[in-house]
Amino acid sequence: MAIRNILSGDDPTLKKKSRVVTDFNKRLHILLDDMRETLLDANGLGLAAPQVGVLRRAVLIVDLSIDTEIPEEQIIELVNPVIVECAGEQTGSEGCLSIPGVYGMVPRPEFVKVRAFDRRGEELELSCSDLAARAVCHEIDHLNGVVFTSLTDRFLTAEELENMREEREATAEAEVAEAEAESSGAQATEAESSGAE
Ligand code: NI
Repeated sequence: MAIRNILSGDDPTLKKKSRVVTDFNKRLHILLDDMRETLLDANGLGLAAPQVGVLRRAVLIVDLSIDTEIPEEQIIELVNPVIVECAGEQTGSEGCLSIPGVYGMVPRPEFVKVRAFDRRGEELELSCSDLAARAVCHEIDHLNGVVFTSLTDRFLTAEELENMREEREATAEAEVAEAEAESSGAQATEAESSGAE
């Protein structure tokens, strides 16, 4: 596995539409493995193949609601994903690994159902809500050449970003304190996520 370079927001590749994956072969597996490593290294909530310069319809999302202390087990691979159902609405701040430090308010469905394939070409269906639903929409947008900055009419100010950072730190500290209180130090704490996709 290797960490790949994440393209920055102004790279023309990010404006292009990705092609359907037709071969579920070794090449795809290497791409997905590298994307996993890249995503873990960047501490994000999702990554799309075009972000590492490959115009193929493959994405990773992180589902924080999966109850595990191993971050890698929260990663879901979706090949040729299609949203088949969505419901409700949520508006929250969104970021992107290709545009570090920039966050904007983006409306998304509260719930989505996705049909996709796994790396072996087996069909799968995934239902998710909240942050994971937001991540799915954000990553599928990347496959269509859409970056979240074109969907927001309000970027977070420097002050709001600072508040967000403080809140995250406070949550992380509270989690550490909670874990220490709960166990005799054997329990690991959840890794802090950058919240960027
Ligand atoms: Ni992104």
